[in-house]
Amino acid sequence: MARLSVESSTSTTLVMDGREVLAFAGCNYLGLAQHPAVLAAAAEGLGRFGISTTASRETTGNTVVHDALERDLAAFTRQDAAILLAEGYTANFAVAQGLVPTHGIALVDAKAHRSIRNAATAAGMQVMEYEHLNPDSAAWLVRQYADQGVAIFTDGIFAADGAIAPLEGLLRVLPSRRGTLVVDDCHGLCVMGEGGRGTVNHLGLDDPRLCITTTLAKGLGCYGGAVIGRQMLVDSIREGSDVYRRSTPVPTPIAMAARAALGIIATDSALVDTLRANTDRCREALGRCGIGVHGDPVPVFTFVLDGGITRMERVHADLRDQGIYAPLIEYPGGPSPRYFRLTVTASHRAEQIDRLGEAFASALQLSAC
Ligand SMILES: Cc1ncc(COP(=O)(O)O)c(C=O)c1O
Repeated sequence: MARLSVESSTSTTLVMDGREVLAFAGCNYLGLAQHPAVLAAAAEGLGRFGISTTASRETTGNTVVHDALERDLAAFTRQDAAILLAEGYTANFAVAQGLVPTHGIALVDAKAHRSIRNAATAAGMQVMEYEHLNPDSAAWLVRQYADQGVAIFTDGIFAADGAIAPLEGLLRVLPSRRGTLVVDDCHGLCVMGEGGRGTVNHLGLDDPRLCITTTLAKGLGCYGGAVIGRQMLVDSIREGSDVYRRSTPVPTPIAMAARAALGIIATDSALVDTLRANTDRCREALGRCGIGVHGDPVPVFTFVLDGGITRMERVHADLRDQGIYAPLIEYPGGPSPRYFRLTVTASHRAEQIDRLGEAFASALQLSAC
């Protein structure tokens, strides 16, 4: 598939091939990547710190901003502590490195993000898959291997099918000793739960065996990653994880931007509330076209159309002709090898979402002829 090359973007539009289109793409769920206060914080950070710390945090590359962002992330998610990593991808490597001394086994949801499996394998854990969203399938494996220490890894929200992980069921099957449930909440943080506090909060869970990994590049609209959870785990990553200790942290201006972004949602749930309303409106708009999607407050809609790939390509092209970019992607874990994956954000205006619905209706009608 041809790779998209974006020439410029706002939180709702892209310029591609010299033409501006209304976009329902990406993971800038709250539009914070373009928020004026976030951009101002990044600009201030550039002036105060330059681009890079040029060293790892445990040598000379730590700043008060990194320390404060860790405290902010822990407070926002109501966990003990947090530790920053360069990306969400490496956050999974760090958590696996922190867990491996006491957890020999990694049980990974079959549709979990690829970074999880790679992280657990690289850390030296024995990796096994359990059936997607099925705690019973994990339970069987837990029983076989409990004496070696078991970490269950799952996405909180699965971006390729929009599903919410059955965290309560997974906690139920997890051993009480040497058992940890790692929730990769890249798509849940800033989106799910009270004021965007994430999937663990959405499901009302509070358990010392839980820990969260996340990106700062989606809901927060910035860049970077973090592991958030109990103090002992964060300490073991800080002391023993090479991926943390031997790499340069998130650039300080970006860490300042992430603090500003988190501050916006920590003090006011308006953006998260708007995202929920837009998610409902988008679901209804698609539903009016006969496209059935999940009923959860997840702003990601994945689906295929009757008529197969040829029809989907026609609809995709027709939408582009109408000035709308609705991604037709090829990515593991979705409902078929190629499928539509639309995202709605807090920045979309109601009339833009209605326009998406009308454009889909007309493209579907045309492609049926
Ligand atoms: C579930 C999940 N985990 C991890 C990552 C990696 O995060 P980052 O892009 O910050 O490396 C992503 C990003 O695509 C993701 O969707």
